[in-house]
Amino acid sequence: MPILLDPTQSAYELQPYKELTSDILTERIQRVRAALGRRLLILGHHYQQDEVIALADLRGDSYQLSELAAAEAKCRAIAFCGVHFMAETADILANRPEQVERRGGQRVTVILPDMKAGCSMADMAAIEQVEDCWEQLAEAINVEEVMPVTYVNSAASLKAFCGRHGGIVCTSSNARAVLEWSLQRRRRVLFFPDQHLGRNTALKMGIPLGEMPVWDPRKSELGGNDRQAILSSRVILWKGHCSVHQMFLPQHVAQFREKYPGIKILVHPECMMEVVEQADVIGSTNRIIQAVEQAPPGSQWAIGTELHLVQRLKHEHPEQEIHFLSPMVCMCATMYRIDLPHLCWALENLAAGTPVNVVRVDEETASFALESLRRMLEVK
Ligand code: 13P
Ligand code: SF4
Repeated sequence: MPILLDPTQSAYELQPYKELTSDILTERIQRVRAALGRRLLILGHHYQQDEVIALADLRGDSYQLSELAAAEAKCRAIAFCGVHFMAETADILANRPEQVERRGGQRVTVILPDMKAGCSMADMAAIEQVEDCWEQLAEAINVEEVMPVTYVNSAASLKAFCGRHGGIVCTSSNARAVLEWSLQRRRRVLFFPDQHLGRNTALKMGIPLGEMPVWDPRKSELGGNDRQAILSSRVILWKGHCSVHQMFLPQHVAQFREKYPGIKILVHPECMMEVVEQADVIGSTNRIIQAVEQAPPGSQWAIGTELHLVQRLKHEHPEQEIHFLSPMVCMCATMYRIDLPHLCWALENLAAGTPVNVVRVDEETASFALESLRRMLEVK
């Protein structure tokens, strides 16, 4: 399977696509969809820009997109309009051994229209840092008592690390169920890479802040903690965050509450604790959409999540009053890299039999990562 790695080549090939109008690009993408029929599945995350999400066969939050990829039996290619870790997860789940066998040995090709569509939070935990953390923990405590839990926003190597150590993956929609599952089996959890999702979830379960030390991978000794802090820990939080959600601040909530008494604050659990504590509804992108869809006309919302999703909700629900929680432009710049020129270029190459930007996780990593993903899909 050819994998395009040379960015100068892609820049060169992309240039003509960038000169086309959105209408022409959309028409050409529709032509590829018609030609490939059910062999092609376009998956889109809720943060994608409107003209891209309009072309997705299915859209969802990270959990739903994982389930969709796992269930996929008919298609031969998935174009993932999301970020790199999502495409990796789709590759692992769509190509698990029993699915490949069911397809008579055929794999699903997963493509990410722009390889630079990464996730800055996922980049905050490298496998070497997590392994170093684990070794240090093993010197301080019994690591058999520690459940490694990785947020799905992480590289496949971290999911494989969890798979190797009996650990599990979570998403923003099942983090509580996964933490409960973990703490029923082991005394402590090492949660990476998002400290906020870990903290917000554990607090809701009644775990006090004093039992949640933060592990800073840049600090050499026990991530900046003394041994006592690790000994009394229930959830060790990795010092990582989402650069988009960290821009929602408690004063933004206060400003909205003052200006619009009765307004409902709706935020993603990647926001900091001080924001989440004051929110009325907290949930994954899908939960946010559901809350708005189910609300009566005239409801007022201030929403703290990525800008494209909030703008779409605003547009689709004129019967409600929807505000963006921050005065800043909080958009996921990497998700935004997936645009019509990249999608059209990637799909036309796929149709021509010369797929570009193929995301394929190596076999060993995929098989261990699958263990932690399977555990997640089994937790209800
Ligand atoms: P969801 O799983 O809620 O869609 O979140 C994904 C994400 O990257 C949020 O920043
Ligand atoms: Fe990553 Fe944040 Fe973008 Fe989500 S919004 S993909 S966590 S950088």
